[in-house]
Amino acid sequence: MPEVTYIYEDGTKKTIEVDDGTTIRDAAVDNGIDGIEGDCGGLAMCATCHVYVADDWKDKLPPIGRDEEDMLEATATERTDASRLGCQIEATAETDGIVVHIPSTQY
Ligand code: FES
Repeated sequence: MPEVTYIYEDGTKKTIEVDDGTTIRDAAVDNGIDGIEGDCGGLAMCATCHVYVADDWKDKLPPIGRDEEDMLEATATERTDASRLGCQIEATAETDGIVVHIPSTQY
């Protein structure tokens, strides 16, 4: 099962194993990872699942889709080149070990 590591601003890390194909958003919500809200249920319509992907993972992910691009303009914290929506990234064998940073707020 792929692993996902979430890092908070204070440096606290939480690593969980999830079923293949689970999104970063669903994995957080289902496992009590605070700081990723995912209010729209994973439909790329709320931007409350915003994460900053760790530097060494940014170029390994599928490109940003059109809906994701639109919602990344509405994140509560600054968008950077590491910004992605957690609901649009799946934990798979290809992304096993992915590390994402949780923003200070989603609202
Ligand atoms: S859960 Fe709403 S945009 Fe990702």
